Amino acid sequence: MDSIHIHGGIALQGQVHIQGSKNAALPVLAATLLTAERSYIRNCPRIADVHAMVSLLKKLGCHVSWREDGLQVDSAEVSLGAMQGEAVKGMRSSLCLLGALLGRCGEAVLEHPGGCVIGERPIDLHLRALEQMGVTFSEGKGMIRGAARRLHGARIELPLPSVGATENIILAGVLAEGDTCIIGAAKEPEITALCRYLQNCGASIEGTGTDRLLIHGGTRLRGADFTVPPDRIVAGTYLMACIGTGGCILLEGAPAGEMADVLKAASQMGASCWVTEEGICMQASGFPRPVERLVTMPYPGFPTDLQSAALAVLAAAEGQSIVEERIFENRFRVAEELNRMGARIEQVDAHMAVVHGAGKLHGAEVEAKELRGGAALVIAGLMAQGETKVTGCPYIYRGYENICKDFRELGARIASV
Ligand code: EPZ
Repeated sequence: MDSIHIHGGIALQGQVHIQGSKNAALPVLAATLLTAERSYIRNCPRIADVHAMVSLLKKLGCHVSWREDGLQVDSAEVSLGAMQGEAVKGMRSSLCLLGALLGRCGEAVLEHPGGCVIGERPIDLHLRALEQMGVTFSEGKGMIRGAARRLHGARIELPLPSVGATENIILAGVLAEGDTCIIGAAKEPEITALCRYLQNCGASIEGTGTDRLLIHGGTRLRGADFTVPPDRIVAGTYLMACIGTGGCILLEGAPAGEMADVLKAASQMGASCWVTEEGICMQASGFPRPVERLVTMPYPGFPTDLQSAALAVLAAAEGQSIVEERIFENRFRVAEELNRMGARIEQVDAHMAVVHGAGKLHGAEVEAKELRGGAALVIAGLMAQGETKVTGCPYIYRGYENICKDFRELGARIASV
């Protein structure tokens, strides 16, 4: 299933159910290590990154099994071992295991994690914060070793709202001695989801959803039931595909409340969106409109994870758009592939691209080089006249449970081969 074949030019119509969120599920799964009791994580997406996290939890001695609507995790016995291999190197979220293992065992050994090739992605904020909580790190041969004789709370000021660093501090903080205060915490809904799971387990966390979190550590946690919220990035991907193809769809279960800036951008691009009890309904205008300036920002701003999808749509608008990427420095790699489909995207520097809307795209053979850029190529293929072949699709399956089936339900001619 390395490639996706698309016969483009069909306006999407109908309704599609939105899967559970990858970026909420992964830290919650890491958090199951913090209780010796059984947890049940419902609506967990069956995607490659979740399978990788499951394999890591199993390596640590947890009993993990898929049930009909989710994952059951029993972490009664955790055996500390070095976390390494593809599941760690290929997935940035494996870094959450650092905070969770330090909380549960007081030590952790992890291969330097990778993730998508969308920037340098340093981990200095994670390490510095955990050091403030009493952890000593050593690095060598590609491995990070952390150990804390006494993990304790701290007052941590984050110079920028890193999602992963905020998650790691929370994970380490709930079992640490005393209080941990995070100032400048990331406010992404996935962090709120992690806090909610931990609160279900008995943790005391104040300030969820704000940039100032207070974690009262040291409470013994019980197991809990938790439902992973719907994936706002998957919903946004399908929304962009609808605008690009001039369609009319219902995104069933889409978390509209977390998508205000995405809906604002959609309206600038010419779509009418309205929120119903079922999700988000949208009617695209036929041809996407250019936008003066689209800027990615930490939540609640326009998400960097949807920048590539927007780039694909704007490439087919008539007129010029400016796209500014403020989070990662390597997120315009997809521009080269889109240009092979007739787009005219000019990358000014690592953070800015000028899109000279080409009016239309044509099919081509293109390569996905990372997850969200790959999804953007699928969108471009759906919009383009003729046949498109997207290779490198394992990247896409890291985050999308069934992208081809979902688009087929909306009337597209698309298949994974
Ligand atoms: C999370 O990555 C998400 N991943 C990303 O989604 C998402 O793009 C990103 O947040 C921003 O929203 C997961 O949740 C698994 P960050 P994360 O730490 O935590 C710099 C997807 O496609 N930084 O908030 O790695 C960093 O370089 C993925 O689903 C440091 O300088 O992002 C970046 O410029 C990809 N030092 C900025 O902060 C650090 O120690 C934000 O990164 C950590 C981060």
